[in-house]
Amino acid sequence: MHAQYEITVIIPTFNEEVNIANIIEAVNSILSANNICGEILVIDDESRDKTIRIVQDLTLKFNNLKIIVRHADHGLSQSAVEGFKQANSDIFLVIDADFSHPPVLIPRFYDEIKKGADIVIGSRYTRGGGVKQWPLKRRVLSLGATGMGRILFPGITDPVSGFFALRKEVISGAQLHPRGYKILMEVLGKGRWKSVFEIPFTFTDRQHGESKLTSCIISDYVKQILIITEYSLTSRNNQVWNEWKKIIKFGFVGLSGVLVNIGFLYLFTEYMGLYYIIASIVAIEISILSNFLLNDCWTFKLKDEVDSYTQNRFQRFFSFQCVSIIGLIINIGILYFLTDFFGIYYLVSNLIGIFIVFFWNYLINRHVTWKLRTYG
Ligand code: GDD
Ligand code: MN
Repeated sequence: MHAQYEITVIIPTFNEEVNIANIIEAVNSILSANNICGEILVIDDESRDKTIRIVQDLTLKFNNLKIIVRHADHGLSQSAVEGFKQANSDIFLVIDADFSHPPVLIPRFYDEIKKGADIVIGSRYTRGGGVKQWPLKRRVLSLGATGMGRILFPGITDPVSGFFALRKEVISGAQLHPRGYKILMEVLGKGRWKSVFEIPFTFTDRQHGESKLTSCIISDYVKQILIITEYSLTSRNNQVWNEWKKIIKFGFVGLSGVLVNIGFLYLFTEYMGLYYIIASIVAIEISILSNFLLNDCWTFKLKDEVDSYTQNRFQRFFSFQCVSIIGLIINIGILYFLTDFFGIYYLVSNLIGIFIVFFWNYLINRHVTWKLRTYG
């Protein structure tokens, strides 16, 4: 048996004769330049061009290179999972063969896992990332897919990326059902993990040949989202469920704030004779305070002694206060805009405003106010 490697780089291929030698050389030189002892697994689905031959020849030159040719159930996701099974290390990384994913970033993925992340994602949609040379249709499809994915994983900007790394433990024992090409969604939805780290990168479309992904993949994707949702409701201890539990708690706290607000407004005007606008401002401030305390002690309560927030409690309150006030302004803005410019009934406009601001408040607070010190 070969010595354990520090990382396994998995390259799924189908007809990649133009790229495969270059990507293998590139990955290997980056690994050795960074003193990382890694193996390369090419998982091929019976390419009809010279891909298999080329890799087989290269295995004579690189003894950390292996090719596995799959003869049934072809597909990108299935190939990635086969790579997980065959890997001889505890850290897996998946990368396309066509240089859409820059291999120079591999050491950064490796470092972030070493520092404690369970999953590291190359993201096109976080600050500093992007896509190059993509036709409009592809951009729209991708944004739709990413948007749906973010409903399940609000903390992750690119849950459908094909460029990612993970620890072996994340998926050991998980029931992966790889279909289509959104293998990362499956790992996020079924795996066991706590911390995700995203690395921005620019996706460059292939120089040679065409994308092999067709549009029947869309219906596969919707199906996959439904299955992961169902899974998260039945197994109830995974990340999707944990995130949605926070969102629901956050919603309840918001509702309680409305009651607190109405209660104090009534009290101040009726019993203390305050002018109602002044009473309202004080009541709003009290409900912001009570919302903050409930969220701090309940919604975003830390379960782990090792975790801590980047800000102390006063800073968290200040941040929550700002987000709430900006949210209020956005809410009034939407109410005004929809009612005056689109002629929508003002109570409906208001509901739409509340809905949008709810997610605005949640996301900003989740990522700023209650931002964890390490990861997540
Ligand atoms: N084994 C195997 N089997 N590999 C495949 C198959 C297959 O059926 N289909 C494609 N591949 C390989 C290709 O050889 C390439 O290395 C990689 O998977 C990506 O295929 P492309 O055809 O280049 O995909 P793309 O550029 O359109 O799609 C990319 O974008 C997605 C996000 O929008 C890929 O990077 C995906 O990984 C990514 O999720
Ligand atoms: Mn590609």
